[in-house]
Amino acid sequence: MLDLEKYIRVVPDFPKKGISYKDISPLLMHPEAVEFCVDEFVKNLPTMQIDKVVGVESRGFFFAMLLAQKLKAGFVPVRKKGKLPYKVLQEAYDLEYGNDWLEIHQDAILPNENVLVHDDVLATGGTARAACNLVKRLEGEIVQCNFLLEIKALNGIEQIKQYPTQVLLSY
Ligand code: PRP
Ligand code: MG
Repeated sequence: MLDLEKYIRVVPDFPKKGISYKDISPLLMHPEAVEFCVDEFVKNLPTMQIDKVVGVESRGFFFAMLLAQKLKAGFVPVRKKGKLPYKVLQEAYDLEYGNDWLEIHQDAILPNENVLVHDDVLATGGTARAACNLVKRLEGEIVQCNFLLEIKALNGIEQIKQYPTQVLLSY
């Protein structure tokens, strides 16, 4: 067992005063920690074949791609507005001030495909909910949403409570 918390750098007052940023850069620099995370995620997945792993831009991409490769599943990027070139579905989510939206390619998921949704952090849950909504609108079956870490006090889990979740580390 590896103490994951040792690989997370907590940066106070970033990107603004009062926010305590959980920086996963040290973790990414340590292959043994990356391998541990991938193995933990895979160990706690339902046993069915997963067809697609959805990663949420930007920090969700790192592990989503690794998981897709490990699971022999396709990787699907959910991106911030205006980045995907082909036909997209859009889903709004709240920012601290105002809102924004995420996009997915319309042909990225086929009806009834088993989908794993991954992001690095679950905070308020707005991002994860929007990503899940995109998958559902394409009629994918969300088999799990997983995250390296959650900020428990923000109760983001409530936003995606209809789906199974897995979190490796809670703050
Ligand atoms: C961070 C994090 C999650 C999201 C969680 O991403 O990587 O995606 O916030 O917050 P929420 O649960 O309150 O929605 P951010 O939007 O900062 O962008 P990045 O991944 O591109 O750094
Ligand atoms: Mg993010």
